[in-house]
Amino acid sequence: MSKTPVWALVPAAGVGKRMAADRPKQYLPLGDCTVLKHTLQRLMASQLYAGIVVALSPEDEYWPSLCLSDTEQVYRVAGGRERADSVLSGLDFIALLGSVDDWVMVHDAARPCVTETDLRRLVEEVGNDPVGGILALPVHDTLKDVESNRIQSTVDRSRVWRALTPQMFRLGLLRDALREASRNDRRVTDEASAIELKGLRPLIVEGRPDNIKITRPEDLPLASYYLEQQRCE
Ligand code: CTP
Ligand code: MG
Repeated sequence: MSKTPVWALVPAAGVGKRMAADRPKQYLPLGDCTVLKHTLQRLMASQLYAGIVVALSPEDEYWPSLCLSDTEQVYRVAGGRERADSVLSGLDFIALLGSVDDWVMVHDAARPCVTETDLRRLVEEVGNDPVGGILALPVHDTLKDVESNRIQSTVDRSRVWRALTPQMFRLGLLRDALREASRNDRRVTDEASAIELKGLRPLIVEGRPDNIKITRPEDLPLASYYLEQQRCE
């Protein structure tokens, strides 16, 4: 396993528009606590990280309700308008504590079902990679390329994967890549996209299908079911 420090960075500054709830989805109740608390507990329990950095909205009024103890190595930073801005803000903070060669694992606040096995697999498989890599899932459905509700063709699904988080890259490389994407007005929805824009090819590590992102209301009971199932493992 890599001896280089690994930092966790959790973008949690979104508003959860598609969830259409009375508060940002990371603060919705899930089982015995909130979505964000589950996510942070999973990261903390793994003991993989030099520190965990959470990007919060400057208007966030819910953070204190998480009641995290001061002993945990959880740092807060102000997030930005887009997810990539929130991640950049976290990277700038980590740069003050670590070095450009440190690894950073970016993990969505909205993925509370991530397992320690997946976190460890990512560190083990990416820890010696020159580029970095991400958890991803192969696609099982037949995929169609569609225009104006008409199928144009069938996509070769063996080449298509769904990108999950965590996504793990070196601090310096990821910061450069995200800054460059922002300078060039390229909107990236994950870290790998910014690395790809630099002409690099991140590694794919197959993750577990229960590492879902809570996006819409129907995802919440599903996450609750997965957490319950994981308790029996
Ligand atoms: N995120 C963030 N800063 C932003 C936007 C998103 O830190 N400006 C975070 C979210 O809090 C979430 C993760 O990035 O944990 C993934 O984004 P997404 O699922 O799109 O969450 P939201 O942007 O909150 O949801 P929506 O797109 O439905 O508004
Ligand atoms: Mg969003």
